Amino acid sequence: MPADFENQSYWHERFASETSFEWLIPSESFMAIILPHLQALSGRRHATRVLQLGFGTSDLQNCFRSRGYVDVTNVDYEPLAIERGQQREREAFGDVKMKYIVADVTQLESGLPPGEVFDLVVDKSTVDAVSCGGEDPLARMAAGVRKCLADGGIWISLSYSSSRFDAERLPFDVEVAAKIPAPKLKTTDPDIYHWCYLLRPN
Ligand SMILES: C[S@@+](CC[C@H](N)C(=O)[O-])C[C@H]1O[C@@H](n2cnc3c(N)ncnc32)[C@H](O)[C@@H]1O
Repeated sequence: MPADFENQSYWHERFASETSFEWLIPSESFMAIILPHLQALSGRRHATRVLQLGFGTSDLQNCFRSRGYVDVTNVDYEPLAIERGQQREREAFGDVKMKYIVADVTQLESGLPPGEVFDLVVDKSTVDAVSCGGEDPLARMAAGVRKCLADGGIWISLSYSSSRFDAERLPFDVEVAAKIPAPKLKTTDPDIYHWCYLLRPN
């Protein structure tokens, strides 16, 4: 990714004209990976609290709502994403029931309502954008996610990188939940994968 993917000004310019776009894979494909984990969490706590980080112009939040999960907080630091997200939810359901918050995912402690915790945190390629700023922003993001996870909570993250969470100082045990082949333009192209990580506090 080009280096300015960590800059809000890049996203502001982009979302001025972009109303819908899915990074790496369609939301429904990501949801198919998330769902078994979500159902396991729902077995423990009926009203599962979901936090989506850096939703952009994706409609992943609508995939949660269409399955009955409405306690979804969506965070992005670009205010235009909030408009786009609410617009997409209204188009799909006729009203807005999920929460949308302007906040920096590398400073979650100051961005989220005090004391709020979540059973499931998800991001689709937001870790990639944040990592364009180096290891420190990703470490801050990880520390913030750790603090807002409820007991037994998990973080599911989708990235193009096979080494996204290789840093030693992360407060999580990391496993690969799925390895998704990226589409090829030619059959002779090399195999490339997107990586879905499951992170549990350690
Ligand atoms: C690669 S896009 C992914 C968008 C969406 N999740 C998808 O799959 O289509 C990265 C998103 O993260 C947001 N973002 C990047 N850095 C951020 C930060 N530090 N705090 C909050 N949002 C951030 C951008 O505004 C953008 O919406």
